[in-house]
Amino acid sequence: MTLNRSWLLASRPDGPVKQDDFGYREEAFSPPDLAAGEIFVATRIFSCAPTIRNWLNPPGRSYRGAIGIGDPIRGMAAVEVVASRHNDFAPGDLVTAVAAWQDYTVLAPDKAAVPITHIPAGIDVADAMTIYSPNTLTAYFGLLAVGEPRPGMTVLVSGAAGSVGAMVCQMALIAGCRVIALAGGADKCRWLEETCGVEIAIDYRLPGLADRLKEACPDGIDIFFDNVGGDALQKGIDQMAPHGRVVLCGQISAYDTGQPAPGPADMMKLVYGRIRMEGFVIGDFADRYEEAYSRIRAWHRAGKIRCRVDMREGFSALPEAFVDLFQGKNVGTLLVRNVRPK
Ligand SMILES: NC(=O)c1ccc[n+]([C@@H]2O[C@H](COP(=O)([O-])OP(=O)(O)OC[C@H]3O[C@@H](n4cnc5c(N)ncnc54)[C@H](OP(=O)(O)O)[C@@H]3O)[C@@H](O)[C@H]2O)c1
Repeated sequence: MTLNRSWLLASRPDGPVKQDDFGYREEAFSPPDLAAGEIFVATRIFSCAPTIRNWLNPPGRSYRGAIGIGDPIRGMAAVEVVASRHNDFAPGDLVTAVAAWQDYTVLAPDKAAVPITHIPAGIDVADAMTIYSPNTLTAYFGLLAVGEPRPGMTVLVSGAAGSVGAMVCQMALIAGCRVIALAGGADKCRWLEETCGVEIAIDYRLPGLADRLKEACPDGIDIFFDNVGGDALQKGIDQMAPHGRVVLCGQISAYDTGQPAPGPADMMKLVYGRIRMEGFVIGDFADRYEEAYSRIRAWHRAGKIRCRVDMREGFSALPEAFVDLFQGKNVGTLLVRNVRPK
């Protein structure tokens, strides 16, 4: 008998998510009898990803299904297999999976919408959630497969100091592009310029964003990798070069408003500019992950990409950490390390 703690959806946020929208439950718990094909896992590290906010909306408003009231929150996590009735998983294996915000969960790998993936030997669990995580793959395929950068192009990245954005900036530099970054606050902008090597990082919260973008991109933007949407999307589109492309990765500025994400104001700008806008979801590239990881490993070992990690400690930290995402209070990839009660 052990304790299983859970964070549940207590109420649907109608606007900014609050810590009170999460409910806490703990219950005495015995390892369950597994059905064939199931694994029983203990959670080591939770990833606080903005897209979870979309799953808190009423049904019909997100790519994956809505979380029910009273149900555990779910998200990407690094977990350790405790017991298994699946031939590909053994006790002690470390894997990444979409799992409940709980100490312990039962998963069915063959039915999982997102593949449950072994963390390769020699890769640290925290690295599997940061530099070798789906966010790095998102940057890789969004930039290289959708954006198709070429040397000398000007690339604008919004949400640039975040988990996906910082990787996009560094990969665009590897591709030989000029990189202009948008981020909130002087510290994030300084880190982007001094550590990641972007040419100009603009604090989008200060006035005059349109003028500063025009000054930074006098010949226009060839590729705009947009994580944010809203005002950033509009100002970026206003400055696109002819035949430019906008990679639609996410719309975080709308997630916490309770409203659908708005599009650009004047579609004729895209017509006259022959601009392509294309959304993507990372799962579309699952059959190419190995190719991506081998290049990401080489870049990492060569010191060409680095990750800023905001690791919070303890299960109780989850709701506050999640709310911080929408106030820009995370400094890099936001993770919560689980510390299980003895
Ligand atoms: N398409 C896909 O398959 C895929 C996969 C993974 C992630 N994504 C998307 O990628 C984006 C970034 O995710 P991430 O995990 O890397 O998060 P993140 O950037 O590490 O963290 C979120 C950051 O977004 C910024 N932000 C929050 N609210 C904002 C607002 N109202 N306006 C402008 N910026 C705001 C804040 O940075 P500042 O301090 O700079 O404002 C905050 O630190 C999200 O839109 C996510 O949904 C897409």
